[in-house]
Amino acid sequence: MRKIIFFILFINGSFIGFAQNYEVKVDSLMNLMTLQEKIGQTVMYSGRWDQTGPIVGTDNGKYIREGNLGAMLNAFSVKGTRDLQKIAVEETRLGIPLLFGYDVIHGHRTIFPINLGLSASWDLKMVEESSRIAAEEASAEGLHWTFAPMVDLSREPRWGRISEGAGEDVYLGSEIAKAYVKGFQGDDLSKPNTILACAKHYVAYGAAQAGRDYHTVNMGEGELRNVYLPPFKAAVDAGVETFMSAFNELNGVPTSGNKFTLRDILREEWGFEGFVVSDYTSINELVPHGFAKDSIDAARIGMNAGVDMDMVGKLYHHFLEDLVKEGKVPEAYVNDACRRILLAKFKLGLFDNPYRYINEERENTTKYKPEFLDKAREIAAASSVLLQNKNEALPLSKDIKKIAFIGPLVKDEYDIIGNWAAKGDRKGKAVSVYEGISEYLNPNQILYAKGCEILKDDDSGFEEAISISEQADAIVLVMGEGHHMSGEAASRTNLKIPGIQPELIKKIREANPNKKITLVLMNGRPLNLSNEVDLVDAILEIWFPGTMGGAATADLLFGEVNPSGKLTVTFPRNVGQVPIYYNMKNTGRPIPEDNPKEDYKSNYIDVPNTTLFAFGHGLSYTTFTYSDFRISSQTLNPNGTIEASVTVTNSGNRDGHEIVQLYIHDKVASVTRPVKELKGFQKLALKKGESKTVTFKISVEDLKFYNSEMKYGVEPGEFEIAIAPSSDFRFKHTFNVLD
Ligand code: GLC
Repeated sequence: MRKIIFFILFINGSFIGFAQNYEVKVDSLMNLMTLQEKIGQTVMYSGRWDQTGPIVGTDNGKYIREGNLGAMLNAFSVKGTRDLQKIAVEETRLGIPLLFGYDVIHGHRTIFPINLGLSASWDLKMVEESSRIAAEEASAEGLHWTFAPMVDLSREPRWGRISEGAGEDVYLGSEIAKAYVKGFQGDDLSKPNTILACAKHYVAYGAAQAGRDYHTVNMGEGELRNVYLPPFKAAVDAGVETFMSAFNELNGVPTSGNKFTLRDILREEWGFEGFVVSDYTSINELVPHGFAKDSIDAARIGMNAGVDMDMVGKLYHHFLEDLVKEGKVPEAYVNDACRRILLAKFKLGLFDNPYRYINEERENTTKYKPEFLDKAREIAAASSVLLQNKNEALPLSKDIKKIAFIGPLVKDEYDIIGNWAAKGDRKGKAVSVYEGISEYLNPNQILYAKGCEILKDDDSGFEEAISISEQADAIVLVMGEGHHMSGEAASRTNLKIPGIQPELIKKIREANPNKKITLVLMNGRPLNLSNEVDLVDAILEIWFPGTMGGAATADLLFGEVNPSGKLTVTFPRNVGQVPIYYNMKNTGRPIPEDNPKEDYKSNYIDVPNTTLFAFGHGLSYTTFTYSDFRISSQTLNPNGTIEASVTVTNSGNRDGHEIVQLYIHDKVASVTRPVKELKGFQKLALKKGESKTVTFKISVEDLKFYNSEMKYGVEPGEFEIAIAPSSDFRFKHTFNVLD
């Protein structure tokens, strides 16, 4: 019976397939499905972490056979998916294939810099290339779907998951979201090297109060629409196939039970047609939120609000059928959810060939391809940010007689690939900084001491570290956070370099008052470097740079590559300033720039309002000068455009890349607007001495915002405009938007 139905379906399907499209195929299939089978498609369970063999003996096999399971996470590799898929296809009534998803966040085997790091490259092509490579490696191991990109904007360095996003800016975060979706999904989902992307965590998860993960989120609808929603809308515009609802509540309504965000905005306003998966038990968590009285109630709320698939919560599996029969959940909602999920499986080609992502030869020949590793090295270098470089401490000469490399992360191959590193290897595949510099120096040039651990307060290693620093001609400290100190459930109240590393830095400076000291930082968030900036000469922010991170860092330290990265998130002077970001409001009592000490202004008595390192900041081994700002007109018509341009010159003696940024400021509007807003950027390659004119086109589309009545539009009036190397500048030019 099963085979005939499947066969008939297949023949009908292919006949229909010949003349019709996926929607009709899906409808044909759904006409054959029972309510229980439709609910089965909305259920996702987890394979065993690091599974490489099928878990067929446990409940997963039973649930699949019963038609109660439509997708799995944490199940991958040919061995880990083939037998599970065989059960779904050959041992169930309708043979509907499973969907296999996994957190492929910044690489699958070849690991790229953490997303906050990658965003500092401001290189959309690199973002797309990194996710394309991740899709190649993940799809070669049986995966159809990644729970990425994480497009949560955040201005909260205390929040551990700031490491997974693209920083604090709406425009840049939206552009990067599009690039990730394009990379993962490619231009044809029916190709076996493309995978479904997932815009997460919908929505405003990055605004958790006090940066504490999973914490409450409160904001006006204007802030939601002008700041936190746009990167998700950008993902929809880029064709993202899935969304993930978040853990947090938003203004009292948990986002995994929020009809306003999930149906009114996502479906009605944006026309999103993909499916929404909950975050891990986030539907169950409606109960502790105090939004559902029990699990049955949570299941009811989740489906009615618009969450199509229940990630490991078991609620849809156990309660949806009764809820539908009792009239508490419209069957139409279950049908819609099932249809969206089946549609995704059709698009992936899983009904034509459920085993198309299961290919031993591809699995064995795809991971760690040399070109993938080369690209990872290039991207890691481009993602690093030279925060300061006093006394031209960098680049280092390869002829220096003795260089001391000190710190708990010099030889690290474990933390260097960062958090959420999928199947990235932490046991030797990653290139440590020590290995990287060994490509540049002879062993007798290298002095090494660990000095201390990342977190332990054991200073017994200080003496040796100080001793070798005194023998060296130059000193490189490689320090920072452990990879587990950022990412999920890893918020910090203290933004300093952890442990006794700061003390070691201080002692090494005291022992070497005139030597050039470089601090290389591995970390997943902005840090408070207020002490270190005066203790060291150069600071190179490499984030967690991934599999080839050590090689890339050496390329930067010795000048093989000229740093070009720029911050996409503000580095505060201390945690007391947080939240602090470049595009804040002016307030009614702004500090006069020419008199920062004036009383009764919006400031602190102990710390200036300025940042330690601003959004958009990043140095190079060369210098760039900006000249000859021009604007094509002082007035902008509602249906017209104006052009702003500047000439950028590489005025130093090294080739380099410069990220040129366009900012505007809407001076007066019916709701207050940020003092600055990034509205464009271009990354230029400039040979030494070379000049290029950079032009940006501006239309009113670039200037629109939601006003107090939630109307999206632009208001006539004066705008300031600037093209600058970072957000740390003063406007000098204006134009007017006409009515
Ligand atoms: C986690 C994360 C989410 C991830 C999911 C599956 O709790 O919040 O980002 O994709 O569960 O691992």
